[in-house]
Amino acid sequence: MALRNCRNVKVLDITPVGETQRPGEFFELRLERPDWDAWKPGQFVMIRPVDWPMDILWGRPFSICSGDSRSVTLFVQKVGRGTARLAELKKGDTVALWGPLGNSFAVEPDTPTLMLAGGIGIAPFRGYVEQHSHPENLKLFFAHRMPLGCYPHEGIAAVADVECMAEEKPEDLQAIIARMGELVNEYRDGLILCCGPTPFMKTAQRFALEAGARLYVSLENRMACGVGACLGCVCKDGEGHHVQVCTKGPIFRADNVEL
Ligand SMILES: Cc1cc2nc3c(=O)[nH]c(=O)nc-3n(C[C@H](O)[C@H](O)[C@H](O)COP(=O)(O)OP(=O)(O)OC[C@H]3O[C@@H](n4cnc5c(N)ncnc54)[C@H](O)[C@@H]3O)c2cc1C
Ligand code: FES
Repeated sequence: MALRNCRNVKVLDITPVGETQRPGEFFELRLERPDWDAWKPGQFVMIRPVDWPMDILWGRPFSICSGDSRSVTLFVQKVGRGTARLAELKKGDTVALWGPLGNSFAVEPDTPTLMLAGGIGIAPFRGYVEQHSHPENLKLFFAHRMPLGCYPHEGIAAVADVECMAEEKPEDLQAIIARMGELVNEYRDGLILCCGPTPFMKTAQRFALEAGARLYVSLENRMACGVGACLGCVCKDGEGHHVQVCTKGPIFRADNVEL
């Protein structure tokens, strides 16, 4: 399949971040920026190193975490075969990259905005905060299982209000859910954005529907092509119609998507 906007780019840096029992579980991947126009926070790219064997046929999707005129930074958690192979990339290696793909998060500079992030779902919010003209209106609520140092939260904490809760023991989950409920209520007249594991987003969706709050969720469905051609990523919208997450999303209004 020929992909429009597919470019071969070089790895500029690959940097392990934080420490867990699985060495190298989290890493930052800085790639050469292709000749793109601007990207918007919440958009993603597909990447596939050019020397991947054919048994890893498809690329993998990652949110654009950050970027400047020369580079695009992705923040990756190693979860399976593809991400394990990405962790082995070296500076100077070549990666096929296509994007920026998908829609983006709503940005309303003067509206109090709550970002709900679970685990690696924090990645797109770094770009969101960096591009926001009034970060004093932003609050991040971040729930995480791995040590805080594994995640790119410091850049966010430098400019926005950040509240973190670790899930280290079973009872922590109830506390996280309770705090999420309080915050969704607090921001019921504002804007709420969410990215994280599906159970985390479902909980946010339930609270938002109860409170009548405006919530957008960013779906991380498995993807193959990223451009609407394979139907590998579909979800159901609020009316039960199948829609492609890669082209209609990845961001949906929580009252118009089935999680
Ligand atoms: C729009 C979008 C943005 C994303 N942004 C990021 C990001 O910024 N950082 C990041 O680390 N990951 C992100 N992901 C998830 C990432 O794409 C997957 O973790 C990756 O594709 C897994 O590939 P793998 O070959 O290592 O895993 P596989 O070997 O394919 O699968 C290993 C395990 O991971 C699970 N898995 C596979 N794909 C996904 C997925 N999409 N979501 C959740 N679990 C999955 C599988 O069910 C399996 O349990 C994003 C996904 C999407 C769709
Ligand atoms: S990933 Fe192929 S249609 Fe969405």
